[in-house]
Amino acid sequence: MNIILIGPPGVGKGTQAKFLVEHFNIPQISTGDMLRENVMRGTELGKKAKDSMDSGHLVSDDVILGMMQVRLMNNDCTRGYILDGFPRTIPQAEGLDDLLNGLNQEIDTVLILELDTSMIVDRLSSRRSCRNCGQVYNLLFDPPDSEGKCNSCNGELYQRDDDLPETIIKRMGVYAEQTKPLIEFYSKQGKTKSVNASGTIDEVWQKIHAAL
Ligand code: AP5
Repeated sequence: MNIILIGPPGVGKGTQAKFLVEHFNIPQISTGDMLRENVMRGTELGKKAKDSMDSGHLVSDDVILGMMQVRLMNNDCTRGYILDGFPRTIPQAEGLDDLLNGLNQEIDTVLILELDTSMIVDRLSSRRSCRNCGQVYNLLFDPPDSEGKCNSCNGELYQRDDDLPETIIKRMGVYAEQTKPLIEFYSKQGKTKSVNASGTIDEVWQKIHAAL
């Protein structure tokens, strides 16, 4: 099963991807996580990506497609994968089609998550992530057991640089301009399923499960 998750920043793509990973036993491939890991390790790719990410802009299509070409050839992708945050532009979607043609694969479903802007801002401004294992929390909706500490590994929780209010607004604009056109791109291929992402984390998963 090859699934693409599309939706505005903070709609819950990463949160719901974890349920899909468990349900289908296939990996989540998050370009945002891969880029953040490169930034943290100070790699050349991370240095190229950091400024765009911090300001809420997209990293260049060439960098992303190069990174994904390597990732999709990993052995863990043979049974399928969940693409979280990729593709994000029409050139990325076209590049993905070329990559998949070469691998004799295709996308089965494009899951579109939708949510009101005010709820998105609430979710993002209260998001915290573990510096050590990457586990995501929410101070309002899914808080850690002890303040500032990860339940799983006791690592320090931090707020992402791009979750500041002005950067959230910038990212929403970039989504509307550059990523939303993908919905039409994949609708024409008859692959889209839309889910309203309001409700608790479990309620949203039930809606996704029913839609799939
Ligand atoms: P990326 O990391 O992909 O960020 P994003 O798409 O903006 O998505 P987020 O991770 O912010 O949100 P999400 O939808 O995963 O929500 P989450 O589950 O965490 O990208 C970051 C940057 O990297 C980009 O801006 C760009 O610069 C670059 N980049 C990445 N991919 C790229 C690409 N392909 N091309 C070019 N550049 C790229 O949930 C959010 C919060 O809400 C959490 O606290 C969570 O606990 C909470 N929550 C989730 N669901 C619920 C619920 N139902 N109820 C209450 N709270 C909830």
